[in-house]
Amino acid sequence: MPDSPLSIPPDRVPQHVAIIMDGNGRWAIQRGLPRLAGHRAGTENLRRILRATVEFGIPYLTIYAFSTENWGRPPEEVEGLMRILEDVIDKELDELNREGVQLRHIGRLERLAPRLQQKVLDAIELTRENNRLVLNIAFNYGGRDEIVQAIQRIIRDGIPAEEVTAELVSRYLYTAGVPDPDLIIRTSGELRISNFLIWQAAYAEWYVTPTYWPDFDREEYRRALEAFAQRNRRFGGVSEAVVNRAVHG
Ligand code: IPE
Ligand code: IPE
Ligand code: MG
Repeated sequence: MPDSPLSIPPDRVPQHVAIIMDGNGRWAIQRGLPRLAGHRAGTENLRRILRATVEFGIPYLTIYAFSTENWGRPPEEVEGLMRILEDVIDKELDELNREGVQLRHIGRLERLAPRLQQKVLDAIELTRENNRLVLNIAFNYGGRDEIVQAIQRIIRDGIPAEEVTAELVSRYLYTAGVPDPDLIIRTSGELRISNFLIWQAAYAEWYVTPTYWPDFDREEYRRALEAFAQRNRRFGGVSEAVVNRAVHG
């Protein structure tokens, strides 16, 4: 039943899902296509996953689209990825806006072409009152870069050392006001964080699948959410079952 609704209790639905959309290149190579064809297919898939996220009632989604390290790729690929971001804004913005998606950007805009920067800013402005889904697009994003910038701003603001707490640092990150991700999904099987949300991921649950991003469909998304719902998150404590056993024998 590929279209069955999410069969997990509402309090087990993650508030914030973050996705490392990986494997576009390998998906394309496997088909004898150029890597950019994989990125295009990945973008198509993003539409499906966005729609499913809204349907599943998940309020925050963060997607990793371009890392601070991805500048090291061949220039044609970097240019292609920039063009894809621009196309997505041009073609999808109206529908996203109609669906109640609030777009946000995390990362540095400065290095993007001025016209693209403006498009991103306009999209953020257009959708800022929407509240069905907050979509953070991590583009030219790096977790270390985010933390370095936070430290610089904390120092510039003259915050005394003893007032620097984990809560304060969180407020200085791009994700200020956004709950930490509950679930991080990484496609294509790589078992690493690749500089994604390194602070915010402190207690995230992971779901890694060998599926390449363009093939990660609604059904597998649902399976990831169901797997998440089964997890016993302890946050360094002990599970409720263990506590109950200790108290009641
Ligand atoms: C993820 O796919 C998309 C970006 C990093 C922009 P990749 O391009 O990393 O695909 P693989 O990992 O080479 O297969
Ligand atoms: C992480 O994927 C970045 C994005 C998905 C945008 P990479 O493909 O760049 O990560 P590594 O190089 O395999 O660690
Ligand atoms: Mg990759």
